[in-house]
Amino acid sequence: MDAAALPRPEDTRVAVIGLGYVGLPLAVGFGRKLPTLGFDINAARIAELRSGRDHTLEVSPQELKAAAQLSFSADAGDLAACNVFVVTVPTPIDDAKRPDLRPLESASRTVGKAIRRGGVVIFESTVYPGATEEVCVPIIERESGLKYNVDFYAGYSPERINPGDKQHRLETILKVTSGSTPQAADFVDALYRQVVTAGTHKASSIRVAEAAKVIENTQRDLNIALINELALIFHRLGIDTSEVLAAAGTKWNFLPFKPGLVGGHCIGVDPYYLTHKAQQIGYHPEVILSGRRINDGMGGHVAHRVVKLMTQRRIHAAGSRILVLGLAFKENCPDLRNTRVVDVVAELNSYHAEVEIHDPWVSAEEARHEYGLDLVSELKPGHYDAVILAVAHHQFVELGADGIRALGKPGSVLFDVKQALPREKVDDRL
Ligand SMILES: NC(=O)c1ccc[n+]([C@@H]2O[C@H](COP(=O)([O-])OP(=O)(O)OC[C@H]3O[C@@H](n4cnc5c(N)ncnc54)[C@H](O)[C@@H]3O)[C@@H](O)[C@H]2O)c1
Repeated sequence: MDAAALPRPEDTRVAVIGLGYVGLPLAVGFGRKLPTLGFDINAARIAELRSGRDHTLEVSPQELKAAAQLSFSADAGDLAACNVFVVTVPTPIDDAKRPDLRPLESASRTVGKAIRRGGVVIFESTVYPGATEEVCVPIIERESGLKYNVDFYAGYSPERINPGDKQHRLETILKVTSGSTPQAADFVDALYRQVVTAGTHKASSIRVAEAAKVIENTQRDLNIALINELALIFHRLGIDTSEVLAAAGTKWNFLPFKPGLVGGHCIGVDPYYLTHKAQQIGYHPEVILSGRRINDGMGGHVAHRVVKLMTQRRIHAAGSRILVLGLAFKENCPDLRNTRVVDVVAELNSYHAEVEIHDPWVSAEEARHEYGLDLVSELKPGHYDAVILAVAHHQFVELGADGIRALGKPGSVLFDVKQALPREKVDDRL
């Protein structure tokens, strides 16, 4: 049988599967230009979006409204009317830090049931090189009874958005595209060029595009790990890391990374996809995993430094009151996924300190559900033995060092994880 024709531009009906931080902006982008169905298995998410609200704050009510050709559904039966399926479901890791491909496999089954001859499936979720064609495509073939690159085609176009970042948006970030045949690659590339004004880079294969995405975040993780290791060394030497970085940063090719907690859904997770694949083929990565170990240890390091400062002031950690400002994995964003602030809290709890966490951005219910942590909504001036600025939300930066210090008792400790406050106003910083 001849290879099936790809959808014509005027017949293109896009489905975006998984409407989270990545999927929703994409569905809105497509929905401004093309008939688009936003699909999610979470009925509450669909109800929220139908009511014109996005709790992730990535898309405003006005932007949602402006996507005139976008509709939402939690009913997989509605996908049958579509011929391009863009998969943006989560790709987390399990407790043993192995890729958890279940959402991707389940979304592939959903696509397999809906796809018809000539259909195209494009994956955006971050994976290891080979996952699309080794894991997802066989599921789609099995469910649909269609043959890959004869009856249907695939593409991979990794996402580069940055939650909470209003400057780097889907439209303004150059996007890598790829396809399972030269024609499919052209189709995928042209599709994205309709919504990404910054342009596209057509990679030579799906595996190249998959590998490109996973190394972008691996490189960032490792660069931060190096600076974190330097921070561990400089702390022992009694040198302020930020001052060293400011001095070294005057060289033209010194890269401007800062020490910190590496959390979130991407940077602390994606390298494990690559290392998993490497191990599968008999290569045991050393540099990548040692960087991961350093970054994962930074929460404990912060807690130890705070406890040491308290002890030096004769403040007993056990029974002390410590305020942690910020729980989100990064500033000005409600995203709690894989936040490493929880490591700081866990370590302080192990000293039997009474830790209170305040974060005006995150949902208290989500904090309780995900981490069993109760947030405090009110700040109590003069109440704490130590205050840790863990996340530089604008509210905390605006409060300033004096405002934050006023939350502590006289002689309390103020530790700045984010180097957001003047050095001379804090007791120590990372
Ligand atoms: N968040 C980011 O900044 C970012 C950036 C680049 C790449 N990515 C990658 O994009 C992918 C998605 O991440 P995200 O942050 O948007 O995740 P998310 O958790 O915000 O959203 C995922 C959505 O998919 C839905 N979902 C899960 N399984 C499903 C299924 N089988 N069928 C339909 N819907 C399903 C969930 O209900 C949720 O609404 C991941 O692979 C991630 O690594 C994320």
